[in-house]
Amino acid sequence: MQKEVDLYHAHYGYIAADPQVAVRRETYDEDLGQASWITLAEAREFFSALELGPGHTALEVACGSGGVTCRMAAETEASCVGVDISAEGISAARERASEQGLAARVSFQIADAGQPLPFPDESFDAVLCNDSINHLPRRADVLRDWYRVLRPGGRLLFTDPIVVTGQLTNEEIRDRSSIGFFLFTPAEFNEPLLAQTGFIVHEVRDVTDNVASVSRKWREARAKRRAELVTLEGETAFDGVQRFLAAVHALSSERRLSRFMYLAARPFGEDVREAAAGSRQADQADQHP
Ligand SMILES: C[S@@+](CC[C@H](N)C(=O)[O-])C[C@H]1O[C@@H](n2cnc3c(N)ncnc32)[C@H](O)[C@@H]1O
Repeated sequence: MQKEVDLYHAHYGYIAADPQVAVRRETYDEDLGQASWITLAEAREFFSALELGPGHTALEVACGSGGVTCRMAAETEASCVGVDISAEGISAARERASEQGLAARVSFQIADAGQPLPFPDESFDAVLCNDSINHLPRRADVLRDWYRVLRPGGRLLFTDPIVVTGQLTNEEIRDRSSIGFFLFTPAEFNEPLLAQTGFIVHEVRDVTDNVASVSRKWREARAKRRAELVTLEGETAFDGVQRFLAAVHALSSERRLSRFMYLAARPFGEDVREAAAGSRQADQADQHP
């Protein structure tokens, strides 16, 4: 489906423009250049769950402008790689890494994460994907590829912000998915799929609160700067992003669409047997609903 609202072009194309910076400062606890529902406080919880440290390597899938990737490298001392399909996002990410003196340990590549990733098997100790898996078709293939690039014992953490936990009208679905390809996922779909892929699931947590608060603050901060943003984005794009954010806020605050965090690991040693049993169980549950 053709996207009606080019949120990421507007975001990454003018990442350093004054009104965009002011909007992010008012929206998030810290401006990481994010185009999502993550705050610095939450990012730190994710880094710690990934158990990263010096000498480790981590991949961020759909890293956008690389703010989270750079912060992960700075705070954990791991080497980090970010990939995103947006050339503007990757260019802003490279600039950020070099400005922050991280270029020796952090790199970025343009890649379509809906396709096999351009990395050999068992390249990373951790894979992080924040608020982006919903943009990738064929979930089973995506998870299989993340499993492939992880080393045995490596950890995967992703958020899925599009878990259907209530009723949605056709207009709400249209507004919520107006920014590009969207995969709406039923509740309790990701857990068995992770097990079938061979992962051990460590934690599943409802992290919808950030969506409700960030979308409200983001929309209000943009509304205050309407004139400057319309000059940058054009009136149609501005109104489209506002409509998108209004839909996000309504659906998340009413818990009709939820955001979940999944922490899993590629098994290692003894865990391999446990994971194989989990995978068989998930297969059987699939066949006998
Ligand atoms: C909601 S943003 C999240 C960006 C970043 N993870 C963050 O938290 O700020 C979703 C990102 O997915 C990227 N994206 C969409 N489709 C993609 C694909 N097929 N391959 C790689 N990245 C993709 C977009 O360019 C955008 O940067």
